[in-house]
Amino acid sequence: MTINPQRFLADLHTLRSFGASGVGKGVVRPAYSAVEIASRRWLASRMQEAGLEVRFDALGNLFGLAGEKSLLVGSHSDSQPEGGWLDGALGVIAGLEIARASKEAGGPPISVVSFQDEEGRFGVLTGSDVWTGRMALADADRLTDTEGQTLRSARQRMKEGGGKSVTTDLFTGFLEMHIEQGPVLDESSDRIGVVTNIVGIRNVKVTVKGRQNHAGTTPMHLRRDAFQALVALNARLNEEFSKIVTPATVWTVGHVDVHPNASSVVPGRVSFSLQWRDADKARLQAMEEIVRQTCTEIAQACGVAVEMEPVMGIDPVAMDVRVQAALEQASEDLAPGQWRQMPSGALHDAANVAPVLPTGMLFVPSIGGISHAFDEDTDEEDLVLGLEVLARAAEAL
Ligand code: GLV
Ligand code: MN
Ligand code: MN
Repeated sequence: MTINPQRFLADLHTLRSFGASGVGKGVVRPAYSAVEIASRRWLASRMQEAGLEVRFDALGNLFGLAGEKSLLVGSHSDSQPEGGWLDGALGVIAGLEIARASKEAGGPPISVVSFQDEEGRFGVLTGSDVWTGRMALADADRLTDTEGQTLRSARQRMKEGGGKSVTTDLFTGFLEMHIEQGPVLDESSDRIGVVTNIVGIRNVKVTVKGRQNHAGTTPMHLRRDAFQALVALNARLNEEFSKIVTPATVWTVGHVDVHPNASSVVPGRVSFSLQWRDADKARLQAMEEIVRQTCTEIAQACGVAVEMEPVMGIDPVAMDVRVQAALEQASEDLAPGQWRQMPSGALHDAANVAPVLPTGMLFVPSIGGISHAFDEDTDEEDLVLGLEVLARAAEAL
């Protein structure tokens, strides 16, 4: 097949126009927002123009089917609340271009997917969770975002959802191209990363309940301040985690909601997210035990209640060796000596698909290692080289 770099880049820029933030090449396109749904409809029209059969499943995952058993290529097109133009979008448009070019050349059948809610507005990789059967649709429907909205009410905005289902046995394998979102390729000047494995993740919402009171009249020793409890909890977690982690282990308190969030009120309630990632499942489990233990200790020490919701997560997973070999060969053919094998510290839909289909991932460099931020970017030459490598591997597979 002959891929068309201009058409690929033009589509990528058009996708960016849905939710373009005005800051650099930033994008605000959270799952099921009006602009995200509009972008999905545009993507569906591009798939149709490419001669693919368009199908939305009940959750809103969008497929462009080649009509026979085929390789599936894609990623996601929703964004973080403040996201970049490439995270996910790159893999979807790469899939579109490869499917289109292969059809034009009478090449092998290739299908495309854009999974819904990869960025976890509601869960963790929600679209591919439900598609691969890891989570029942009814359970996904009960998930809520940070505003308390349920996924069920959000997805009902998409009238397209709920068509004929797309089963995993329609496909021979899955390829996902993505920006690295970290500094490794940028610092090494390698232009391609072939992913060996994807680290595992655990994510939990925690609520600390203290006593809301007057910030002028309540003596310090009588306070049950939910924010102070969170600060103590965080310090204790850092201390305890440091005893068992490796330099590659990461953990984050990324969302905090202080109630009532006012200068003159002792906070009565704090809700926050706690997330940790590691390549070793046993370490993820050990960290969970530390979290549970620390919550109990802090509740006692600070006179507050600490409630954990169920811990969600995905286990570490290896990429398929045959798919990796095809990506490595294509990398060596097109970027000799300028590629490397590497693990993925970010989570991807490929982690969900790997247990059900032979799966591989390809990375291109992220300038400055920046992602999940408006200034995420990659040189267009690197985007095109990645596309060429992916197309070659797809043909070989
Ligand atoms: C996916 O966006 C992740 O958080 O790794
Ligand atoms: Mn992504
Ligand atoms: Mn992301």
